Amino acid sequence: MTDTELRVSKIENGTVIDHITGGQSLNVLSILGIDGESGEEVSVGMNVPSNRLGKKDIVKIEDRELSQNEVDVLSLIAPEATINIVRSFEVVEKRQVTRPETVSGVLSCPNAGCITTGNEPVESAFDVLEEGVRCTYCETIIRDSIASHLDSA
Ligand code: CTP
Ligand code: ZN
Repeated sequence: MTDTELRVSKIENGTVIDHITGGQSLNVLSILGIDGESGEEVSVGMNVPSNRLGKKDIVKIEDRELSQNEVDVLSLIAPEATINIVRSFEVVEKRQVTRPETVSGVLSCPNAGCITTGNEPVESAFDVLEEGVRCTYCETIIRDSIASHLDSA
């Protein structure tokens, strides 16, 4: 085990999100709806050395599994992330995130005139492109800082 791994202790049961793009862990927490008030037991490593990525962030959450929707959105800001499911201190499942074709109900459209941002109960939906995401309704493209368009942000 390397010094880096020792920086944040192992968890007993839950999820380790590893190989997060350096500096993105706070956005990952935001996607998962985790803040100081939510009460989850969470460890975060930021900009720790990584052989593969140079530097990476890592998030460990006790007693939590992620939904497919959460993993889909996560892939947009941390395309190299690995999701490790831990039970009784062992990694029992490891998977790479993959970019979905669409994301629904998670990002909000920056266009104030869009049908999804009005009072009508229309859920947001974006098509995932190489260069960003595009609103399915008004075709507005979000290229940068996708995390700042999270519904919760
Ligand atoms: N981990 C943890 N608690 C555990 C088991 C593992 O926090 N009880 C963490 C490890 O510290 C590591 C990640 O989960 O950051 C993945 O663990 P493991 O698969 O054992 O490590 P690697 O083989 O280095 O993973 P990879 O090949 O994906 O880099
Ligand atoms: Zn729109």
